[in-house]
Amino acid sequence: MTHVLHRQIGQSYPVAASGEGVTIRDAAGKEYIDASAGAAVSCLGHSHPDVLAAMREQLDRLAYAHTSFFTSQVAEELADDLVAHAPEGIGHVFFVSGGSEAIEAALKLARQYFVERGEPQRRTIIARRQSYHGVTLGALAVGGREWQRKQFGPLLIETHHVSPAYEYRGRRADETPQAYGERLAQELEDKIHALGGDTVIAFVAETVVGATLGAVPAVPGYFKRVRDICDRHGILLILDEVMCGMGRTGTLHACEQEGVSPDLMAIAKGLGGGYAPIGALLMQEKIFAAIAEGSGAFQHSHTFMGHPLACAAALAVQRVVRRDRLLANVRTQGAHLARRLAERFGNHPFVGDVRGRGLFQGLELVADRGTKEPFDPGLKLSARVKREAMARGLMVYPMGGTVDGARGDHVLLAPPFIVDAAPKVCDGARTAALPTSRRGKPKGKSGRTSCSIASTEAFRRSVRVRSASCCGPACSLRPHRSASSRSAT
Ligand SMILES: Cc1ncc(COP(=O)(O)O)c(C=O)c1O
Repeated sequence: MTHVLHRQIGQSYPVAASGEGVTIRDAAGKEYIDASAGAAVSCLGHSHPDVLAAMREQLDRLAYAHTSFFTSQVAEELADDLVAHAPEGIGHVFFVSGGSEAIEAALKLARQYFVERGEPQRRTIIARRQSYHGVTLGALAVGGREWQRKQFGPLLIETHHVSPAYEYRGRRADETPQAYGERLAQELEDKIHALGGDTVIAFVAETVVGATLGAVPAVPGYFKRVRDICDRHGILLILDEVMCGMGRTGTLHACEQEGVSPDLMAIAKGLGGGYAPIGALLMQEKIFAAIAEGSGAFQHSHTFMGHPLACAAALAVQRVVRRDRLLANVRTQGAHLARRLAERFGNHPFVGDVRGRGLFQGLELVADRGTKEPFDPGLKLSARVKREAMARGLMVYPMGGTVDGARGDHVLLAPPFIVDAAPKVCDGARTAALPTSRRGKPKGKSGRTSCSIASTEAFRRSVRVRSASCCGPACSLRPHRSASSRSAT
């Protein structure tokens, strides 16, 4: 009997006991290939010796000092590092402990910015349907998953939602991607006009939509038009790169590929790579200056913000990503993965779309490719894909409600940046979890999925991780094997 309130009451979870590279081992000794980095978190895989060494060093010096009394060397260094590599104009960083906190801070800082500038009439937020921004009340309010918001409706701040940039389902057959982006931008502008331009605080969007849509980038030009609209109306652009940021799409920030710089940007998962809970809010200097020259304090803080151990982990993660040129690896392996996914699933009867950027790829499952009809939600297909994959030793990140919050399913793949054989992840995803023919179509709530199952053992053996040098001969940590000999098993 567990005393933990788990995500699903009554479900039994394997106990994660250890991890190395792209593999997690449970207490029974079963191994799982982490092809989703958890929820796009573990960008360096597990037990990276350099990160562990940096954390131990910090622990030996100081675990915690409250930020109302002290700053810490490591928080200062991490902020310097983030600003040095941030989009244009970003000059300061506010540390938090995760993605929802980063979004919450973004919403409050945006509101305070306008209050300090003498525009207190700005009170509403515009965001997009089919987006996820977290579970705290502000983040939930801007999130676009209706089923998740519904019961908490009375507690949520006023937010208005527009259409996501979801080309697979949203673009009309007679429209170019650019024209589709124009139409979406116009929808945003119409909404702003309807609300009154000077009442809107911010537009919030995931640069590449992760959990709710399954790695969906915007169409070309969309974010430039959005940036322009926000500027013309004096509205802040808040980009949520909690999942898609910090290298996941092949550039440190996903917005680099859109050619825009946000006013505020939330980052989290890949920042600390799962070694410690940490998130951050990056802000334009104009926002910092308004507060600095106004009240002098952002009216928002947490006991554990800027925790030295979390900052040490994140700083080490970011240094390893740069030192080992892992963004180049994300681009190379991401291209392999995308190619192999297209080869494997491009003609699959139940895969309607394969999309994504870098090591952030999604498959949308459909019952009929021609009509794009999703599967019956009663099948709980995404949950079954997850269960079947786990049974075969593979972690992927499936989700339901892709189409409209209720219908539709997708599978997200987001392997660690150290992966050296992304095609194997693709093979594993295919063999582990997806029905391969009409005969394999899910039968019903109690029916079993008929899958083609290749040897996941062979798959597991063949996944290699890149070299990650140890911290030296004196290091007490388990040495990583060399790139040529190391396998994930
Ligand atoms: C885009 C995005 N924003 C915010 C969050 C919330 O982050 P957290 O779960 O760390 O609160 C998530 C989590 O998946 C996310 O994907």
